[in-house]
Amino acid sequence: NLNSVCLKKSILITAGPTIEPIDPVRYISNHSSGKMGFALAEMASKLGYKVFLVSGPVNLKHSNSIERINITTADEMLSEVKKLIQCQKIDVFIGCAAIADFKPVNYHEQKIKKINSADQTSKKTEEMTLTLTKNPDILRYVANLDIQRPFTVGFCAETQNLEENAKLKLINKKLDLICANDVSKKEQGFNSDQNSVTLYWGNKQKELDLASKEKIAMGILNHIQEIIPKKI
Ligand code: C5P
Repeated sequence: NLNSVCLKKSILITAGPTIEPIDPVRYISNHSSGKMGFALAEMASKLGYKVFLVSGPVNLKHSNSIERINITTADEMLSEVKKLIQCQKIDVFIGCAAIADFKPVNYHEQKIKKINSADQTSKKTEEMTLTLTKNPDILRYVANLDIQRPFTVGFCAETQNLEENAKLKLINKKLDLICANDVSKKEQGFNSDQNSVTLYWGNKQKELDLASKEKIAMGILNHIQEIIPKKI
C-alpha cells in the first residue's frame, strides 16, 4: 500500500519566483507561476508525504495539509530550507523554484531617480548601471550536504540544448534526478497549466509527455518512488 509506505516520509518543495528588490518600487525576478511546484506539493500530499512548501510570491491556493512558508528573496528561501532540513527529517527535496540568479549588491532605501535634471542632455541619462551579485544556489547547497542529505531533485528550464544542459546540471550540482523543461514551447512551461518533461538520472532518461501539471507531478513523484534507495 503506497500510502502506508509513504506515511512517514517528508518532502520539501521550493516553488515560484524569488523577488530581489532594487529600491522600494523596483525588483528583479523571473517568470514563474508556481503551478508546477504547487502541483508537486498537492500530489505529494495525496501520496501521504508530509509536505513543506517554501514559496516565492504566487497567486495560488493549496490544501491545509501542506505546510507553506512564504519568502521573497533567494537568501530568505535558503535560510528557510536550511532550517527545515535541520529541524525536520526531510527525505526528498525538489527544487522547483525559479530563483533569480542575481541580486542587486545594494538596496536603495529611496526610489532611484530616472533623470538627474541638471544633466538632461548628457548621454549618461540614457543608461543606468546596476551592480549585481550572484544569489546562493539552493539546490546545489542541498545536494552537497554531508549529513541529512535528502534525495535531491532539480528542474532545468532551457530554451536551447535542453538535454546537454540538463545532463551537465545533474552532474555538476550532484543531483539524484533532474526534470528538464523546454520553455521555448509555448503550450508548456511558465504560466501554462500543462507541461512535458524529460527525466535524467544516472545515465538513464524517461519522457513524461505533454499533460496537466498535476499528471506530470504524479509522474515525477512515482518515478522518485521507483528509483529512491529503499533504505529511505
Ligand atoms: O542552474 P539553473 O538555475 O538552471 O538550475 C535550475 C535548478 O536549480 C532548479 O531546480 C532551481 O530551483 C535550482 N536553483 C536553485 N538556486 C539558484 C538557482 C537555481 O536552487 N540560485
